[in-house]
Amino acid sequence: MEKKWWKEAVGYQIYPRSFKDSNGDGIGDLNGIREKLPYLKELGVNFIWINPVYDSPNIDNGYDISNYHEILADFGTMADFDLLLKEAHQLDLKVIMDLVINHTSDQHDWFRESAKGKDNPYRDYYIWKDGVDGGPPSDWQAIFGGSVWEYDETTEQYYFHAFAKEQPDLDWENEEVRKELFSMISWWLDKGIDGFRVDAISHIKKAAHDLPAHETKVAARYQNIEGIDSHLNELKEVFDRYDIMTVGEASGVSAHEAEKWAGKDGYFNMIFEFEHIGLWKQEESEEFDIKAFKEALSSWQYALDGKGWNALYMENHDVPRSVSAFGNDSKELREISAKALALVYMLLQGTPFIYQGQELGMTNMPFESIEQVDALDSKYLYHELRKKGKSEEEAMAVIRATSRDNARTPMQWDDTHYGGFSENKPWLSVNPNKSTINAEQEQTETTSVFHFYQQLIQLRKENQALIYGSFEELLPEDEQLYVYLRLLEEDVFLIIVNLSGERAAYKHSKQLEKLGEDWQLVLGNYFETGKLSELSTLQPYEARLYQLKINEKNSN
Ligand code: GLC
Ligand code: CA
Repeated sequence: MEKKWWKEAVGYQIYPRSFKDSNGDGIGDLNGIREKLPYLKELGVNFIWINPVYDSPNIDNGYDISNYHEILADFGTMADFDLLLKEAHQLDLKVIMDLVINHTSDQHDWFRESAKGKDNPYRDYYIWKDGVDGGPPSDWQAIFGGSVWEYDETTEQYYFHAFAKEQPDLDWENEEVRKELFSMISWWLDKGIDGFRVDAISHIKKAAHDLPAHETKVAARYQNIEGIDSHLNELKEVFDRYDIMTVGEASGVSAHEAEKWAGKDGYFNMIFEFEHIGLWKQEESEEFDIKAFKEALSSWQYALDGKGWNALYMENHDVPRSVSAFGNDSKELREISAKALALVYMLLQGTPFIYQGQELGMTNMPFESIEQVDALDSKYLYHELRKKGKSEEEAMAVIRATSRDNARTPMQWDDTHYGGFSENKPWLSVNPNKSTINAEQEQTETTSVFHFYQQLIQLRKENQALIYGSFEELLPEDEQLYVYLRLLEEDVFLIIVNLSGERAAYKHSKQLEKLGEDWQLVLGNYFETGKLSELSTLQPYEARLYQLKINEKNSN
């Protein structure tokens, strides 16, 4: 398999608003990130992905960009950015930026011009249509709720938005638009950044605008639509001029298309798939379907093994905390289940991403009222639920389980008043459990979730089999255990993780016996020893990593 720096790297996602506030205004910023680079080095990651820091009216926290060439004042200045990039590089940390090119803010100059009149030169930068029978051009729903069409009184037409109405979609069919975007991309790459995470990129192509909405899938008419490949290939041509890494956010792309998107000649080096995480989950969390989860992960592993590359993740800024969603955030099981989730995904084939605070096992936030919530989709959902007759308490239960603000509460650095994030009241409340879950404490405790992540990163660095080794799943039918092998010639690793909160039976298989006898426990979350061949039960969320030792006899 072809070797690449980004295959060997581990990434760390920074949500700048919530990472570290350096100047006491309650908002995280670029200098705050710079201050914490040594922490990231200690953890052992190789690159950071920073969520958008461009100029923006912040309707969707930076995903509504009003100027691609400026830094939002809340975060600092372009000089601060340049310094961050320089210092990160001095520490051998690469920096990838968020690239939001499906839409802009409605405050971007292009849109302001576009909205002025039908013959404005920027009119066709966006998607404008006439209404039908006094209503919108079609019945399509937006991802954040409501119609995708917003009426504009000045020109008596509707414009299209896949997300919020303040995020009008660019018209990728217009060559001028593509040219503008590509030159902006080159401008950033010429600065020396190391790549992009490409936002919402499966939405840049739309179906014929007057088709009726799909019955069940919200974004079906503007997600991974036929013909998208020509746009994506043009984009790739720009990327290919640089030695960078690219990771596309590709909702609506399934494993059978994996190669087109993340194969050797795919549009991106890797993509974030959505099959294991569920897109914009709008329901209160149901039982965790372990089998479906395994199937989703394994299907992407097999689809790209030897043919491309995966991006691996359990959390990001759009989903609740994994330990609360998939694990167990009780006092007894939080650390154990956080480690199980770490082991299960970090050793799959691909580039692992760690979302800030995940390495501490940070949990969901006990939001008490909607006033504590900032995310616009959660507010919209709350009001919809209330309109449908749900009580305040019922509606808040849904918000607590599903809101992406769970992931956006400030990073918990220590146990001081604002968790060491800021000296003043942060823009979003700090989780009250900061007194027991925080970086300072975990950095000192040798058995912490933080150290577990550190060990996993180290193991990956030391063992090529954990990077380039092929993937093979065992016991695919098991409803509690996720078991897989990573194999590179003589080097074999075995991963066994109980993803359930109950004890699980395990039976050593013939297949493993054939591979060898001497399986050594390298890492676990229960401090167990004992022979693999004698292992018969796994504790709740127990996770074990074994390495096969061969030719021991020769060394005696
Ligand atoms: C992506 C981002 C999300 C944002 C949306 C619109 O899915 O991850 O945070 O709201 O795109 O830009
Ligand atoms: Ca600040």
